[in-house]
Amino acid sequence: MAYYVTTPIYYVNAEPHLGHAYTTIAADVLARHMRQRGEEVFFLTGTDEHGEPVTQVAEREGITPRELGDRNYVRFKELAGALGVTNDFFIRTTDPEHHEVVRRVVQRIHDNGHVYAGTYEGWYCPRCADFKTDSELVDGSRCPIHLIELEREHEDNWFFRLSAFQEPLERLYAERPDFVTPQIRFNEARSFIEQGLHDLSLSRARLKWGVPVPWDETQVIYVWIDALINYYSALSYAREGEDLTERFWPADVHLIGKDILKFHAVIWPAMLMAAGIEVPRRVAIHGHLLMGEHKMSKSLGNVIDPFQVVDLYGADALRYYAMREVRFGQDGGVSPEGFEARYTSDLANEYGNLASRTLAMIVRYREGVVPEGELPSELVETFDGLAGEVRSFLDATDPSGALEEIWQRVRRLNGFVQEEQPWKLAKDASQHERLDSVLCGLAEGLRVVSLLLWPFVPTAAERLLDALRVQDRSFGAARFGAGSGGATLGELGQLFPRVEPPTASAA
Ligand code: MSP
Repeated sequence: MAYYVTTPIYYVNAEPHLGHAYTTIAADVLARHMRQRGEEVFFLTGTDEHGEPVTQVAEREGITPRELGDRNYVRFKELAGALGVTNDFFIRTTDPEHHEVVRRVVQRIHDNGHVYAGTYEGWYCPRCADFKTDSELVDGSRCPIHLIELEREHEDNWFFRLSAFQEPLERLYAERPDFVTPQIRFNEARSFIEQGLHDLSLSRARLKWGVPVPWDETQVIYVWIDALINYYSALSYAREGEDLTERFWPADVHLIGKDILKFHAVIWPAMLMAAGIEVPRRVAIHGHLLMGEHKMSKSLGNVIDPFQVVDLYGADALRYYAMREVRFGQDGGVSPEGFEARYTSDLANEYGNLASRTLAMIVRYREGVVPEGELPSELVETFDGLAGEVRSFLDATDPSGALEEIWQRVRRLNGFVQEEQPWKLAKDASQHERLDSVLCGLAEGLRVVSLLLWPFVPTAAERLLDALRVQDRSFGAARFGAGSGGATLGELGQLFPRVEPPTASAA
């Protein structure tokens, strides 16, 4: 089966921060998990390089928007690399092939009768690239998100008849209760639709940086219309000489932050309906990572630099922290202290030490060969149904739920070592069989949790699976009891070594 997952395309107006890494990590977890299940996966990420968010910063820096894009898109690409992300393509909205598809789709919306010439009168925030209503503004004229003074605009441009899609959208929401997840965001999008939709500017007259409107080259296509089409356009040129659209469209899941819900859950499906293209299967929304009380954002200056964290602790640590610390779908605080605590207590102690202790005991008591004992019934019970639960959580786009389930078993394995005290069993000849059973249960438990943890912490999981000599790395193999003893262990080393955190002045 084909599976298509996307991240938002990130604005190239600033350096990437942990907030951007967050969505990309979540998408990578889903992509890896589905590949592990044997599905044919296409995973897309990339950069959004048009519109005022980019031109304004370029202007401030005295360079062209293209130069800014060329410089900064590399950072987003590098971030994906640093995080060990397995995207199949990296799209830039400046790609000429993307332009071509944007023009084609917009032309279809036009030809289907959903575009008309009009005049936009109202507020516009160039930082959001979004039109604002009077009631949204603070102090009468300021953007509720960026708090900057807005100007009232008066501009002739082309309009998309969004209002005509109110009913079709209501129907979509009635028929597809999982079109948007989690439920609270589904409700939010539906009530936005039910309150009545206004037509939307499809083009901008003042701006020059963007994709020209096919039938009126004096205007460029509104940046959000252009950007949303990336999900569709990429499939037509990501693989040279091949069009993947048939195979992968409609997308299985668009992962996004709650800040861009309206665009993805309302405008995007309406655009697709207007163009006669199938709508995606799901839009999955996550919350915001907060530093203190505020959304982490470059403009607030309260960011955690993912490159620095990965340099010091490795990609796995950041991936784990991002998926674990904040429940996917909700807002939650992150901090360097919180990160270090998770690294030490969860990764180094609970997973890393469990692995090194278990392997060391097999070396010491069984000459490095995993014994073929009977699996301890306590562990059989503990692991019963785990893979199915993980699968359900990930199918529901809840990576933190899946991780929590797996981690309960990691904890249980640690508890099992404490209860059994294999070092005592080793001293008692009558306990020989029990020791075989305990060691073989621990090795089997480590095999299963590592297979399931692989999408989250691929490097560590692979190292441990290598040391355990596990051949079959598929999701289907993640059943307690499916493995076998007899393997001669390889070297492991420390999975999560101690790291001296940077001092405050160096950070
Ligand atoms: N270019 C648009 C998206 C176009 S998609 C067709 C845009 N870009 S952005 O650079 O501002 O990135 C937005 C996305 O980055 C959010 O939707 C979210 O996925 C992620 N995040 C940015 N800051 C974040 C947090 N502080 N917390 C969580 N996610 C955050 O909007």
